[in-house]
Amino acid sequence: MELDLGLFSRRDFLKEVAAFGAANLALWAGGCESCVQQIQNRPTRKNIQELWDANPSDPVIVTYKNAVTAMKALPSSDPRSWQGQMQIHLNKCIHRNWLWLPWHRVYLLYFERICRKLTGDSNFALPYWNWNTHPAVPDPFWDTSSPLYDSNRAITQSDQADSSYIGTSVLQNILNETNFDLFASGPPPTSNLHNGPDATGMLEGTPHNNIHGFVGGDMGTFSSPLDPVFYTHHCMCDCMWAHWNDDLNNANTNDTAWTNFAINDFVDENGNPVSVEAGITVLYPLLTYQYEPCSLAQAQAGAAPKLTGKQLQAFLKAGAPSKLTFGPRFELRQTVTTEVGKPSTTALNVEPGALTSALQGDPHTRLVLTVGDTQMPPKRDFFVRIFLNKPDAAGDTPIDDPHFAGSFGFFFDESGMKGQEAGGTMPAAPLTGFLVDVTSTLQKLNQAGSLSSNQAQVTLVTVPYARREAAGEQLVLGRLELAVARF
Ligand code: C2O
Repeated sequence: MELDLGLFSRRDFLKEVAAFGAANLALWAGGCESCVQQIQNRPTRKNIQELWDANPSDPVIVTYKNAVTAMKALPSSDPRSWQGQMQIHLNKCIHRNWLWLPWHRVYLLYFERICRKLTGDSNFALPYWNWNTHPAVPDPFWDTSSPLYDSNRAITQSDQADSSYIGTSVLQNILNETNFDLFASGPPPTSNLHNGPDATGMLEGTPHNNIHGFVGGDMGTFSSPLDPVFYTHHCMCDCMWAHWNDDLNNANTNDTAWTNFAINDFVDENGNPVSVEAGITVLYPLLTYQYEPCSLAQAQAGAAPKLTGKQLQAFLKAGAPSKLTFGPRFELRQTVTTEVGKPSTTALNVEPGALTSALQGDPHTRLVLTVGDTQMPPKRDFFVRIFLNKPDAAGDTPIDDPHFAGSFGFFFDESGMKGQEAGGTMPAAPLTGFLVDVTSTLQKLNQAGSLSSNQAQVTLVTVPYARREAAGEQLVLGRLELAVARF
């Protein structure tokens, strides 16, 4: 993503400084005469496996190790310490709603600044783990003598994340989403915009949650920042969000419950508390750091941004309404239990005619499957694949089968819920829901002529993560809905 500096005047920059909060940005910018240059030379976050393949002693890897060591040497009462950073996540992290993206973006930014300060490497940029191109936990994390090692992981160096959640076609489908709530996650349950108990969107529910579950150990809990791979995982999620905004030019929500939400949980590199409004974080990847292309080769090639420079900034700051209006909706309230290894099929009664406009490709009409009132499984050793109109789908049904509609996994931690209650951004009750855009799957089935019936069959296949048996573990949900959603 190129920043068009010609369109970026000094006056605009000063406005940005004001918007960021002068105290935070002045340190970073060091005066405005050099602003444009600073922006142009902002640090680049790179692919950690590629850095390692070229040179295992690449300065980024060395600094990351040194930073972890330095953070571990600080007293745990210091919020900049390794334990302190983890505690912020354990007690305050935001998940299962649309604030998870800006909250973790701010987390990464200040973590990165703490790394710079403690190592003296002022150009350090966090590396990312591109799980699409390298589905195994990258090599730098497996040297048992390295501070980047975590002995609690459930997997080994050769285990690969499943393409149901990090494969190119699945991620492509997520990046093709143009609605923020479906892409990112919906409003928190406390919001009057809310549609149900929880509305986890696809970036969160699919690659994000499943990578936590796949790596397991610390990564499977809200103490996940104890595993240094955590920050590189979130950097990849953040990169996908930046790509979706800045290269594919999709808008975030303009709802003030999102843009004005104050993120107050972090400290800067000097240990001073910071406060950032979610809305301003949309500019971070344009002004304070940048990404080496993190996304799928195909998407990059096709992604000539329509907007650059000032127009792009204005577009991002404006956002767009993201509220989904559901209807008609075809709902079944009934307990559905799916045991690992025993797929379940549930039939929803639908009126095929009601789906027509969405099937014809109206970009503001989507067909959304809600997997709702879902209990948080006490053990989360499995993920879920969804097939439509394929009642014989099983663990060995490939995801390139045209009936495959997506996947989701769980990220949850009972011990981390107290802070959530206090923060009011996540419900205490361990019920959740997932929004899955099934438009393209149903379009395919429609073209193949297999969508005329007045029933839609939803088959859920629960699959254990690598090296976990998950014997007897169950997915239990209370509501399935196929709806036409407009925005
Ligand atoms: Cu708050 Cu992926 O973690």
